[in-house]
Amino acid sequence: ENLNVAIVGATGAVGTKILEKLLERKFPAKTIKMLASKRSAGTEISAGGQTYIVEETVPESFEGIDIAFFSAGGSVSQKFAPEAVKRGAVVIDNTSAFRMEEGVPLVVPEVNPHMLNEHEGIIANPNCSTIQMVAALQPVKEKFGISRIIVSTYQAVSGAGAEAIDELEAQSKEFQERSNSKADILPSASAAKHYPIAFNAIPQIDMFDDSGYTLEELKMMNETKKIFGDQNLAVTATCVRLPVVTGHSESVYIETDDVNATVEDIQSAMKGASGVVVQDDPSTQTYPMPLFAEGKDEVFVGRIRKDPKHPGGFHLWIVADNLLKGAALNSVQIAEELIK
Ligand code: A2P
Repeated sequence: ENLNVAIVGATGAVGTKILEKLLERKFPAKTIKMLASKRSAGTEISAGGQTYIVEETVPESFEGIDIAFFSAGGSVSQKFAPEAVKRGAVVIDNTSAFRMEEGVPLVVPEVNPHMLNEHEGIIANPNCSTIQMVAALQPVKEKFGISRIIVSTYQAVSGAGAEAIDELEAQSKEFQERSNSKADILPSASAAKHYPIAFNAIPQIDMFDDSGYTLEELKMMNETKKIFGDQNLAVTATCVRLPVVTGHSESVYIETDDVNATVEDIQSAMKGASGVVVQDDPSTQTYPMPLFAEGKDEVFVGRIRKDPKHPGGFHLWIVADNLLKGAALNSVQIAEELIK
């Protein structure tokens, strides 16, 4: 009970889960400061029998703070993370602001905890879709090697924040007019056009790059290589938003170096891994689904099957709660690893 902790974005979809996880896991915090924008200063948040009062984020907020969790968007991290570091805090940043910078460890504790030793004040929490994929693939990579990953995602709206959840709910209520539903947030608040998400599938998450990929897809491709420490790994992604509230799903195709690996080998490697649960039995229709992964800490894997033609090729279906393992839980696990 000796650490002073701050949560920036404390009123948001991820920030509220960070508080929950800190309390649930009995993180040794002496104080927890809840920070957001000026708009929500004074708002009360109750959790664990205590009431926390939200304060506006200013540079001085970080005086005396040991660990600051950031989940208020990239621009807020750009502005305030250096202020927090300057005042002696270690920042665990959930945004993409610093992930690919040198000197910024990008960490999934089950995969590359050793990278934490190299931080210079900021540690980055990877993209939600990347985290669940690398956590599930790590035991396979360790045992059989992986040379190639092709992933397609089926992502929940909560990854785009609390306002995106509201948007899906409002559109769902007006489902008869769904094609004309008012859309302001998705696919990306800063995009020129907005499309309804209710009863739809939007093949755009974040903005487009000149390459024709979206930034979300590029995050998955670049972050996976950095976390695995393998710049030769071939990774390519298609990211799609679905009308699911919470829980990202992924269809993942891998090529193992060991072409003799069997489905049973892959299953047993994953069964021994911490934080991974295999739910894979077609005879009982057992496979992961986002509705059942919501609220759970683990990454769930099913539908593991061999490519009939390509040696070493496997398909997997990977599902996790994007707000927990994909964000808040992984951030808190980074903090736990840091103070070990
Ligand atoms: P606020 O509620 O005051 O707007 P989400 O990811 O669910 O959209 O949440 C975003 C989080 O980021 C919220 O907690 C929001 O606080 C916070 N936030 C937005 N802008 C700022 C800012 N300029 N400074 C600090 N926090 C901010």
